[in-house]
Amino acid sequence: PFVPLRRITPSELATHGARKNETKTYWTVLEGKVYDMTPYLPYHPGGEKELLRVAGKDGTKLFNLTHSWVNWDNMLRGCEVGILVSENEMLK
Ligand code: HEM
Repeated sequence: PFVPLRRITPSELATHGARKNETKTYWTVLEGKVYDMTPYLPYHPGGEKELLRVAGKDGTKLFNLTHSWVNWDNMLRGCEVGILVSENEMLK
């Protein structure tokens, strides 16, 4: 059966940021897809701190500046939470 992707707004995304985060899970966005990076944090070759820089926000730019050759789509398979939509889009 067709299972629609979960839609996530920037404000929900922001509750999974590096600070003032009660969820204790860290999300980021890569090219419109929302990922839960939490399980990957201890394995990142660049360290947890660098990953947390993009927690709660769109990480696409910083990711591509650092290592555009890394295949995040494959690496983060299973960590996908849904897709980012604007607050307005959510009301439709
Ligand atoms: C290295 C994955 C986000 C900073 C790496 C490497 C992988 C990886 C596989 C090794 C690359 C190689 O050696 O060719 C990821 C994934 C990310 C992510 C899946 C998103 C979820 C970021 C962000 C930053 C960052 C946002 C922030 C600047 C670095 C740095 C290294 C690195 C500095 C180099 C570490 C070293 O070789 O000493 N990352 N990364 N990464 N990453 Fe990330």
